[in-house]
Amino acid sequence: MAGQLHCGASVSRRSETIAANSVVAQYERARSMTSENPSALEFLQTRRSHPYLTLTAPTPDADELIQLLTVAARSPDHGMLVPWRFIVIERPAMARIADALRQRGAELGKVPSLVGKAAQVFEKANLVVAVIASPNPEAKIPAIEQTFSAGAVCLSLVNAALAAGWGATWLTGFGAHDTEFRRVALGIEPPEYVAGFVHIGTGTKAPEERPRPDVEALVSYISE
Ligand SMILES: Cc1cc2nc3c(=O)[nH]c(=O)nc-3n(C[C@H](O)[C@H](O)[C@H](O)COP(=O)(O)O)c2cc1C
Repeated sequence: MAGQLHCGASVSRRSETIAANSVVAQYERARSMTSENPSALEFLQTRRSHPYLTLTAPTPDADELIQLLTVAARSPDHGMLVPWRFIVIERPAMARIADALRQRGAELGKVPSLVGKAAQVFEKANLVVAVIASPNPEAKIPAIEQTFSAGAVCLSLVNAALAAGWGATWLTGFGAHDTEFRRVALGIEPPEYVAGFVHIGTGTKAPEERPRPDVEALVSYISE
């Protein structure tokens, strides 16, 4: 980086000044990009998803939602394939999606009470963003890395919504994993699939903390 910052600094006095200024500007930019952000850190240390039943209207309007999706789209993406897209499911579509899930659950012989619960997830929802993993099978980037990118988008969308003051959670359910439900309800075909249904709304209750892993027990070190 330092080498890059200093290149071209000796052509003439005027260009030296310009180059020097731009070195300072670049340095300042680089420094600000790596400077501390305690409020972001505190947000990440305390963030919590909201149980979907505690989410209600209002939901983000169209402009607000595009802002949240823009944040979510700013996610790591090996090869810049953009192997994901968004389907916004609005309130009037929820009953149809829930019916499709009920029908598919019956066809698959699933336990009716569990199917009912899964359908309720949509029936009670006001706004759901289906994050669609849209992998490119021809790409050199392994499929799993494209999946990771879609997962990163889901978390980033939840975090963006929480940071903007909304309640949000990332759900899936059997429908997310069923090709036929995805086709009927969302109009998607393989190789696309659902990375997550991100529910966004107004939180009515501060979510309780849930158990968190003992991080030290998960860490090992390689030192030589
Ligand atoms: C891929 C994925 C799918 C999930 N699907 C569900 C689900 O269908 N139902 C559910 O109750 N929780 C599901 N969860 C968990 C919720 O997101 C859950 O509420 C989460 O553990 C809250 O954690 P947080 O407070 O750290 O955000 C899922 C999580 C992930 C990562």
